[in-house]
Amino acid sequence: MDSGKFPGSFAWGASTAAYQIEGGWDADGKGPNVWDTFTHQGGDRVLKNQTGDVACGSYTLWEEDLKCIKQLGLTHYRFSFSWSRLLPDGTTGFINQKGVDYYNKLIDSLLEMGVTPLVTLYHFDLPQAVEDQGGWLSEKTVDIFKQYAQFCYTTFGDRVKHWITINEPYYAARLSYESGIFAPGKKLKGIGGYRAAHNMIKAHAKAWHVYNTFFKDKQQGRVSIALDSDWAEPLDPNSLADKEATERYMFFRLHWFANPIFIDGDYPAIMKSIVSQKSKEEGLTSSRLPEFTEEEKAMIKGTADFFCLNYYTTRKVKPLDTTACEPHSNSDTGAEGITEPNWPISGVEWLAVVPWGLRRLLAHIKHSFGNPEIFITENGFAQADPPALQDVHRWGYYQETLMEVLKAIKLDGVNVKGYFAWSLLDNFEWNSGYSVRFGLFHVDFAQANLPRTPYYSANEYAKVVKGNELIYK
Ligand code: GAL
Repeated sequence: MDSGKFPGSFAWGASTAAYQIEGGWDADGKGPNVWDTFTHQGGDRVLKNQTGDVACGSYTLWEEDLKCIKQLGLTHYRFSFSWSRLLPDGTTGFINQKGVDYYNKLIDSLLEMGVTPLVTLYHFDLPQAVEDQGGWLSEKTVDIFKQYAQFCYTTFGDRVKHWITINEPYYAARLSYESGIFAPGKKLKGIGGYRAAHNMIKAHAKAWHVYNTFFKDKQQGRVSIALDSDWAEPLDPNSLADKEATERYMFFRLHWFANPIFIDGDYPAIMKSIVSQKSKEEGLTSSRLPEFTEEEKAMIKGTADFFCLNYYTTRKVKPLDTTACEPHSNSDTGAEGITEPNWPISGVEWLAVVPWGLRRLLAHIKHSFGNPEIFITENGFAQADPPALQDVHRWGYYQETLMEVLKAIKLDGVNVKGYFAWSLLDNFEWNSGYSVRFGLFHVDFAQANLPRTPYYSANEYAKVVKGNELIYK
């Protein structure tokens, strides 16, 4: 490569999510969401029974976050709306003006600073009232979400031009409604994940259509969904069984959502046939994987204006022996992802450092989904507690990863338009509470004013952003 320069107008950002940073869980009329309920139940659902009640305090300390954004020189900031802060019972029956005011202040201040907002409508924190009506397992939620999206476009769409409907439906569906380790903790093995995902895909598609039909001409914005994926490679590249397992691994993850939305409105054929076959063997009269009607397929196909990818790591894959397994989306996949022993591990055991996996995944997306514009909407490295302010390992990860992004752009012709670090701040890392730190800024959770301090990575990232260039030796 001739230089470390990124293309002109490359979007440089950082990401956060409402429940992970805001706190103010019952402030000013906010309704409870499933994570409020889940964490308040205790019972070690979260490490040390920690909650997001206070988190980084961003509901009141949002100006401190703006200072961090400014210090990094970001061009873009991705954050999520707390649905139940805006609509306490999830519906437009009652609008919480204080919640609207909060996001108006945030959006207006970002724009005044010259920072473009990228807003996620739903990042794991479903209003409890919507969950009480069945949550994502219920078809009703599809239209409730559509109305929420419409409300957000109406209220904020004069200024917000980049919308993400749902963050990581793969995790939102499976962890919340299959394994039950995420709120609301439903354990419907082999069924819940598929059903929730089915409704999420429809909800996303309807929210896209509402924008496209009623807002796009006037507001000139764009709508997408954030999909997460590992990159996967066969453990033994010469083994057919490993190669097939690797394909299943990708089909049951990225393609589960990306095929319907970016290709043909339907699930991958291999996924349909495996789940249907297994369901028959289990004596069921229909597949555990729900089917889209022809009308729904036509409605879902083509409902993303750009591709949002959350990438963290890579796996080597081999077949999973499923003979003694109960029905589960994992046993349907029949693939096991393994971390190579020589891959460095971050502060969390699932996050092996494999920057080259991102380059391969980007090329795969380019070829599978018609060379879309891609925004990497999350990528980052965790430190365990206590974290080092001189986080040289983390900066190493960022540097190597950005190098792979550059190669993808310059050598592979992938249309990458932006990169968002996860995360702006140390925050509430779901089941791991505050023990896992992904921030570019350290947050001292022991102090009442929750001070933010830049890690070494923040200072280095700011240089890259400023020069639009990766200086490497
Ligand atoms: C993603 C999620 C984020 C954050 C990150 C790090 O799956 O969208 O909320 O927790 O992982 O684990």
